[in-house]
Amino acid sequence: MAGNINRQILLRSRPHGPPSLDNFELTETPMPEPGEGEVLMRTLYLSLDPYMRGRMSAAKSYATPAAIGRPMVGGTVGEIVKSRNPKYSVGDTVLGYGGWQEYALSNGAGLRKLDPTVAPVSTALGVLGMPGMTAYVGLLEMGQPKPGETVVVAAASGAVGSVVGQIAKIKGCHAVGIAGGAEKCRFVAGELGFDACVDHRAPDFAKQIEAACPKGIDVYFENVGGAVQQTVWPLLNDFARIPVCGLIAQYNATTPMPGPDMFSVLRKRLVLRGFIVSDFAAKQADFLRDVSEWVRTGRLKYREDIVDGLEKAPASFLGMLQGKNFGKMLVRMAT
Ligand SMILES: NC(=O)c1ccc[n+]([C@@H]2O[C@H](COP(=O)([O-])OP(=O)(O)OC[C@H]3O[C@@H](n4cnc5c(N)ncnc54)[C@H](OP(=O)(O)O)[C@@H]3O)[C@@H](O)[C@H]2O)c1
Repeated sequence: MAGNINRQILLRSRPHGPPSLDNFELTETPMPEPGEGEVLMRTLYLSLDPYMRGRMSAAKSYATPAAIGRPMVGGTVGEIVKSRNPKYSVGDTVLGYGGWQEYALSNGAGLRKLDPTVAPVSTALGVLGMPGMTAYVGLLEMGQPKPGETVVVAAASGAVGSVVGQIAKIKGCHAVGIAGGAEKCRFVAGELGFDACVDHRAPDFAKQIEAACPKGIDVYFENVGGAVQQTVWPLLNDFARIPVCGLIAQYNATTPMPGPDMFSVLRKRLVLRGFIVSDFAAKQADFLRDVSEWVRTGRLKYREDIVDGLEKAPASFLGMLQGKNFGKMLVRMAT
């Protein structure tokens, strides 16, 4: 333990438009001591996720905003270093919600023990964690993909999108990814085995996505919104399904962005349904069983983008909102 100091990154102010480094503050506080029933966790990995942009804002949402002057919220994998909770022993590795800090207290609620022999523990924040489960339930429960259908997903090299397209392939679909830049597209189509991947920054993006989907689109897994959504929308087939997972292209918008063509929702009888991964908590055992097996047998690959040190969290988070991450964005704080 590095002395008696706990380094934290606090939310200092709320952004209007794109967040900046000024919204965060690195601080040092005394190491907390666990009370009766509590554990002290040393953070090994901190997950950086797009939803955190929403928590920085006070706007009405499905979750409470992060508090000003408090550590930013976030999922973590940590090691128990002190325990006054009979369910956890020193040395246990746990998935929790420790936030942007090197050490965190927990009363044990919501912690899940991890077995490092099953998979690298960092995967509990990515492919075998919340993003993987989001892809699994969003595609299978809401997208209802059938063999031979075309599934399109943007942010396709990222934590959620990479899993969506690979499950689509496992289910016998034509999987088309959309990603920012040639290198990400090569990875998605080459390494991950999507049928095609199109660069949304290419000047002829609209033409390329149309060519990649010769039979139109049956499932558009909505990860980004914005210009990508506008381009993809006319390619939707009748009875297409659109699991609305995220709208990262719009998270920094200060005025409403143009929405989808609602007339086509009616005319094509589209099913458009928003969801939050926690709506499907009952599916977690199915998710862990299936995706662990697919990862173990190499049918489903994953990529992590790891930076070292808590102080890198703010810049890495801002970079992720601009597409600078390549794979699941994680901060490693200790090993
Ligand atoms: N509903 C839920 O419960 C739930 C749960 C988890 C995640 N989500 C949502 O799922 C989406 C993906 O999250 P993730 O964790 O997998 O992140 P990620 O894909 O690993 O990282 C974010 C990616 O978004 C892409 N992006 C950013 N701005 C964009 C823009 N203007 N147009 C197109 N793409 C843009 C970038 O990829 P490129 O460089 O390829 O453009 C960037 O790398 C987010 O919208 C997130 O909020 C929802």
